Amino acid sequence: MQKRAIVTGGRGGIGAATVERLAGVGVEVHALDIDPEIQTAPPTGAAFGHVCDVTDGAQIERVCAAILADGPVSILVNCAAAIATGDAEVCSLDDYDKVMAVNVRGPWLLARQMLAGMREQGDGVIINLSSTAGIRPSRNRLAYSTSKAAIRQLTRSISTDFGQYGIRANTVCPGPIDTALWRASRPAGMSAEKHAEAAIEGLALKRLGTVDEIAAMIEFLVSDAASFVTGATIAADGGRTLH
Ligand SMILES: NC(=O)c1ccc[n+]([C@@H]2O[C@H](COP(=O)([O-])OP(=O)(O)OC[C@H]3O[C@@H](n4cnc5c(N)ncnc54)[C@H](O)[C@@H]3O)[C@@H](O)[C@H]2O)c1
Repeated sequence: MQKRAIVTGGRGGIGAATVERLAGVGVEVHALDIDPEIQTAPPTGAAFGHVCDVTDGAQIERVCAAILADGPVSILVNCAAAIATGDAEVCSLDDYDKVMAVNVRGPWLLARQMLAGMREQGDGVIINLSSTAGIRPSRNRLAYSTSKAAIRQLTRSISTDFGQYGIRANTVCPGPIDTALWRASRPAGMSAEKHAEAAIEGLALKRLGTVDEIAAMIEFLVSDAASFVTGATIAADGGRTLH
């Protein structure tokens, strides 16, 4: 039977690359994004694009119900994310709440919609995108770093409770990848060139990663080749967290 997947943040850099990779191995991929263009210009390979704000529980319920009405979903990849600047003194309540809602509550709400069906099939895999910031906090990114640590533990909780039903859950921590989100993390007053140089400086491999390098890791983790991998935090970060 053809596998079916949901990928959130499907209009984004890593999300769109993941959609393309999974479609390339025959998966029917449903790409979700808050960006309405997900419907008019879905990423390459997507079977369907659905507008869905992952902070809105009612929208998630509606979209997931429509997808599940056509058959079970065995793969969920949570790529949607928000970022905000600010340390513990400066970060606004609104920014903190938004970042936590998109990066932590959203993946949980999506997983909640999928777990019953996955349990029934005895087959399911959930991939949540964290970040090296979830291992070593990024400077002046209180909300983002906190959310990316929280999503690791959320993933591990799912692995702990649902492994017995044949459901796996793993976290991927990308290093710097040139996407809209990474560009948005450029400190005020710093040139784009300096931003890239500073990121590369901290990497053993001395280059930025590509969206396809992260999508390839996700493709592996959702495949049967990774059938004994659960609860893992995998860094695909060019060596960012080595030291
Ligand atoms: N790019 C990097 O350097 C990097 C590094 C570490 C971790 N990551 C993580 O990888 C994942 C993908 O990031 P990316 O770089 O592709 O980002 P991106 O900005 O290219 O894509 C993010 C997507 O999420 C969507 N989105 C934002 N808010 C949403 C919401 N409320 N509901 C639904 N969709 C929403 C955006 O419209 C966008 O299409 C994220 O979880 C990010 O934190 C990225």
